[in-house]
Amino acid sequence: MSLVLQIERLTKDFPTGRLGRGRHRALDDVTLALSSGEVFGLLGPNGAGKTTTLKLIVGLLRPTAGHVTVLGHAAGARPAREAIGFLPEHPVFYDHLTAEELLAYFAGLCGMTGPERTRRVSAALDDVRLDEARRRPLRQYSKGMLQRVGLAQALVHDPALIILDEPMSGLDPIGRRDVRELILRLRDAGRTVLFSSHILSDAEALCSRVAILSRGRVVARGAIGDLTSKHAGGWEVVAADLSPAAATSLQQTATRVTRIAHGRYSFELPAGERPEPFIAAVASAGGTLVSAVPVRATLEDVFVERVS
Ligand SMILES: Nc1ncnc2c1ncn2[C@@H]1O[C@H](COP(=O)(O)OP(=O)(O)OP(=O)(O)O)[C@@H](O)[C@H]1O
Ligand SMILES: [Mg+2]
Repeated sequence: MSLVLQIERLTKDFPTGRLGRGRHRALDDVTLALSSGEVFGLLGPNGAGKTTTLKLIVGLLRPTAGHVTVLGHAAGARPAREAIGFLPEHPVFYDHLTAEELLAYFAGLCGMTGPERTRRVSAALDDVRLDEARRRPLRQYSKGMLQRVGLAQALVHDPALIILDEPMSGLDPIGRRDVRELILRLRDAGRTVLFSSHILSDAEALCSRVAILSRGRVVARGAIGDLTSKHAGGWEVVAADLSPAAATSLQQTATRVTRIAHGRYSFELPAGERPEPFIAAVASAGGTLVSAVPVRATLEDVFVERVS
């Protein structure tokens, strides 16, 4: 796997105050690298610095310190810009154009002409599942449809690195599923995808790795499995057909017991303890095992712990 994006010690200050003499550090010493074929999630609460990072990669902002290279080219230079497809956080389009016309315009800006341009426009609109609506003016589109046009615009020149700022925002559950599937198809086709989100379930469903930003700093990074397994909890065992006396005796080895219904209880076992002896004790007390599930931390737990 080759390196597609390298971010080294990236720092960005914005001027503040009426005279612009103050400084607000929006990004502070951020280092990240993405290889080809990766789906990488940049996570963090509002104001963490996600959009600022993406704009620096695309070349819309210049860093205060540090640098970014895309396929070995400095961010903002022409070869770097050509390698990137970008969906901004709040895309704004000429709304008297149809989706087809708008994409043909963008494809033209990327140097495509004739049948190649027609083919790429149609492929990008197919990718985002924009059907017959592609011939209607954009002012008649819903928010979710406009988001799809934004995605198609990011894909029309078949870029190696696709950068999506909050790609699921404004989409209903089916739209979110479509965008997830699209991102995975792009990955399978060898593209590299970097997206920002504060919706952690999207990242859990999609990313090989994530970085969590808080107040401009990376506070956690790595494969989702590694980040969450460090927080592994115990097991939750649900058992039925237990007499109150049996439940009371089983309670001794559990950290928490909840009575769900008559004879049915949920037991939480201490972290690090295997569930088999407890399950055997359930059976010998005359109970029936319903389920035994490891209590894993979700990305949400990691996020809340690191960001707060
Ligand atoms: N052009 C700007 N001028 C001054 N401050 C800015 C500018 N752009 C961003 N900031 C500040 O930098 C910080 C990071 O903003 P950024 O937009 O990168 O956050 P974000 O993680 O994308 O948040 P959100 O989830 O709300 O989109 C914020 O404190 C923001 O107010
Ligand atoms: Mg943002």
